Amino acid sequence: MTKQVLLTGGAGYIGSHIYVALIAAGYDVTIYDNFDNASKDVPDRLEQITGQKPDVIEADILDRTSLRACFSSRKFDAVIHLAARKSVAESVARPLDYFETNIAGIIILLQEMERAGLKDIVFSSSATVYGHPEQKSLPETAEVSHTNPYGFTKLTSEQILSQAQAADAGLNVGILRYFNPAGAHPSGLIGDDPNSLPNNLLPYLAEVALGNAPHLNVFGTDYDTPDGTGLRDYIHVDDLARGHVLSRATLLDKQCSHLVNLGTGRAVSVMEMLKAYSAACGRNLRHKNQPRRAGDVTIYCADPSLAKRILGFETTKDVMDMCNSSWNWVQKNKSRNEMKGD
Ligand code: UFG
Repeated sequence: MTKQVLLTGGAGYIGSHIYVALIAAGYDVTIYDNFDNASKDVPDRLEQITGQKPDVIEADILDRTSLRACFSSRKFDAVIHLAARKSVAESVARPLDYFETNIAGIIILLQEMERAGLKDIVFSSSATVYGHPEQKSLPETAEVSHTNPYGFTKLTSEQILSQAQAADAGLNVGILRYFNPAGAHPSGLIGDDPNSLPNNLLPYLAEVALGNAPHLNVFGTDYDTPDGTGLRDYIHVDDLARGHVLSRATLLDKQCSHLVNLGTGRAVSVMEMLKAYSAACGRNLRHKNQPRRAGDVTIYCADPSLAKRILGFETTKDVMDMCNSSWNWVQKNKSRNEMKGD
């Protein structure tokens, strides 16, 4: 049985963790990444973790010629597709760039896969497709909508995959809707590495813990939640990565296409996260209450039961694991942050 995977976006935060999980599961993996939002030393770090030099193609997902050359030079039996832009705020400012990379990107990829006779794809989607949910727990059957260009690209990509599949019954598709990825590999060699002061909660808490930001701004303390702050389903990036391995294995073993949430099913508030990160770094991190952030919702939390049933996926790591591993990662990589001058 061949187990050769093309991992687009494989040098990024989530992609690099998926790479490690795939290698541990016995797959051969080629990383395809333009390094726009990934550091050039990631392949060396992956080699330190896995003991083998990664096969890396530095190219853009929109570069059809490179993609075609990649498919003709190697024999793959699946693609795991992450290469995309991922900032909600940036997508609002530059929607066309998001449509180009995220939507044209998946179309070119599917066309080149078809040309190469490649039938299995795992796609990185997002809980953002649930729009402004009303429910406390989101099953995959919940209503979908988009509230920003980034969300539009994820929802459109899901629809493109489903229509491509309607035209080709041999196409096997695994769609994974990520909730809030957090944490880092225990080695401290790979982790979330934003290019500038981050918008997301965990990397922002890391900046406060490092002393690069004076306090956490808590966006909204008047939500209808136990402590008034927003609730999210944070999932450890290593659990998320394992979800991709299970998704790939399910396509391979059972030809069973699926669309599933990857989350824990547990909703955690901003204040609980602040407390957990304070415990991880060993001091009480300061915070200031602020008005609600535009576009935020009260709660996003997965119903994880379908992923358990179809993939056998269950998370193993909790919020303390996320904060401890994030703190380990940022401490070991302080010089990276200083070099960026943030
Ligand atoms: N928050 C703060 N202060 C901060 C940053 C965040 O209070 O400095 C709060 C937010 O208001 C929210 C929670 O922390 O209540 C989580 O915010 P994040 O920015 O970390 O994550 P979001 O849930 O807003 O968005 C994330 C991804 C999106 C994805 C979405 C859906 O960034 O790409 O999850 O799962 F679409």
